[in-house]
Amino acid sequence: KCPHLDLIPVIDSTNQYLLDRVGQLPSGSVCLAEYQEAGRGRRGRQWVSPFGSNLYLSIYWRLEAGMAAAMGLSLVVGVAIAETLQKLGADDVRVKWPNDIYSQDKKLAGILVEMTGQAGDAAHLVIGMGLNINMPLTEQSEITQAWTTLSQACDNLPSRNILAATLISHLNQTLCDYEHQGLVGFVERWNKIDNFLNRPVKLLIGERTIEGTARGIDAQGALLLETDTGITPYIGGEISLRGC
Ligand code: ATP
Ligand code: BTN
Repeated sequence: KCPHLDLIPVIDSTNQYLLDRVGQLPSGSVCLAEYQEAGRGRRGRQWVSPFGSNLYLSIYWRLEAGMAAAMGLSLVVGVAIAETLQKLGADDVRVKWPNDIYSQDKKLAGILVEMTGQAGDAAHLVIGMGLNINMPLTEQSEITQAWTTLSQACDNLPSRNILAATLISHLNQTLCDYEHQGLVGFVERWNKIDNFLNRPVKLLIGERTIEGTARGIDAQGALLLETDTGITPYIGGEISLRGC
């Protein structure tokens, strides 16, 4: 069956739209919206999603290898998005572990991977991306950390149609590659565009804060942090990375 392309002007969340339709839509189906009333990030945080030519895009992907194989997916998707934006003319596009795209040390896009499925069965993944293209200025106060837009990162901004089509096509290709080869081949590409490589950072793990120097990711997609005691890999959804 041919994947759907559902364009919805106003929606709660494009991720929720696809999660609600798992089992009804073919793998590769996409939902795009102009405005999200309840756009979300990790751990229930809000993704500010006003009208104004941003991109709110989600893709449904059925991963035959199951949930365990989905680890590392936001890293792979990050590489695909960052490289695509660079090819389309954006300056200094980088990745921040585990799920953000940065430009000029500010957040340009966020990725949210959500999934359903049962152990031993295929995983149903919904991969969502929020990309700031032209943000109405009044949104500044609603976002708690430094952010930027593609129009600031690009001298010749491509049309939103070109952006959406190119991103969907590269995401499809990247997800196919990931199904066949896992993280192999992506680790080097990720480390090449790591926003925090060799920079002082802190990791927020629940109530704990650990300071050190970021040393990229390992073959499992774990963040490598160097402290006085050596280099330690950190993995898992409850960890946040911050620059110092
Ligand atoms: P983590 O490192 O844990 O992922 P994070 O602060 O990046 O931390 P996320 O859940 O990934 O948190 O993303 C949500 C955060 O992104 C919000 O708390 C807000 O600070 C920021 N944010 C929300 N909307 C936007 C937007 N349109 N553009 C840039 N940043 C945004
Ligand atoms: C993050 O930085 O935590 C991820 C933000 C992901 C936002 C996108 S916008 C399209 C899709 N729908 C959502 O509700 N969230 C993602």
